[in-house]
Amino acid sequence: MTDNHSTHSAEDDIRNRDIQIYINGELLHRNDAKISVYDSGFMLGDGMWEGMRLYNGKWAFFDEHMDRLFASCKAVGIDIGLDRKGVLDALTRTVEANAMVTDAHCRLMVTRGIKDKPFQHPQLSTTGPTLVIIIEHSKPVDSLQARGIRLATVPQVRGLPMSQDAKYNSHSKLNCVIACMQADQAGADEGLMLDPHGFVNTTNACNFFIVRHGEVWTSTGDYCMNGVTRQKVIDLCRANDIPVFTKNYSLMETYSADEAFLTGTFGAQTPVAEIDGKSIGEHAGAGPMTQRLQGLYKALIEENIS
Ligand SMILES: Cc1ncc(COP(=O)(O)O)c(C=O)c1O
Repeated sequence: MTDNHSTHSAEDDIRNRDIQIYINGELLHRNDAKISVYDSGFMLGDGMWEGMRLYNGKWAFFDEHMDRLFASCKAVGIDIGLDRKGVLDALTRTVEANAMVTDAHCRLMVTRGIKDKPFQHPQLSTTGPTLVIIIEHSKPVDSLQARGIRLATVPQVRGLPMSQDAKYNSHSKLNCVIACMQADQAGADEGLMLDPHGFVNTTNACNFFIVRHGEVWTSTGDYCMNGVTRQKVIDLCRANDIPVFTKNYSLMETYSADEAFLTGTFGAQTPVAEIDGKSIGEHAGAGPMTQRLQGLYKALIEENIS
């Protein structure tokens, strides 16, 4: 791999070497936190996950993350075995075991559980779900804001919802991993993915926005992850009289955008510096609209966690 940044590049934190990880009610040092090779998540990618961020002891937009997790699990018949309060209690235990307060990021994973045999049928998972919570001390590197991210349009596209709906935050991210590798091979940090019709859709790990003549554009949402941060940015635009459009648009309109940025729970809004070797906007780092939205989003988080 080349020396790339990604929207998940974080400051090194040696405390992460000794974190406690939650597995089905037990807290274990990361070196001892192991699950069976028969687990359906490992064997088939048959599981769902959420990435959430802790600010001052609270999970930002917890309800929205739980809405997505419970909806995905219901759709594929995974019984989490806990209600939302139970999930929150498990998160709280993990936070307390690690003495974390802020700048922590969690990957909460639930799989269909351990299988009797190494085959695909869901009924072979007989133990009940596996719930794993990894929380790391994690802060996006500052250089991402100053430098911005480099995107390359990749051949791997987002699929139609009747193949594997992009709205499943499933353990199997192979579609995105392939896109990420293609971007890396092109010398970029992250892959810009088109939809099956050739319109600009999303990146392999984040949602994608452009700004043109004071308007904020993002895809229709038909083929991308229904990102919590994406929706918050759209809502913030609407609440603050910023013209926002969820629409089809092409690479041609993207290359000449005034600004472009990515959204995701970890990095919030990350400016895009260039796409396919073409620089975006006039200045390095976040442009004026991106900065405005970053400020509004920060205030929204403060409101959400208070
Ligand atoms: C492919 C993809 N796009 C976008 C996102 C961002 O979603 P959110 O804003 O909910 O973190 C994620 C996060 O899981 C993702 O996996």
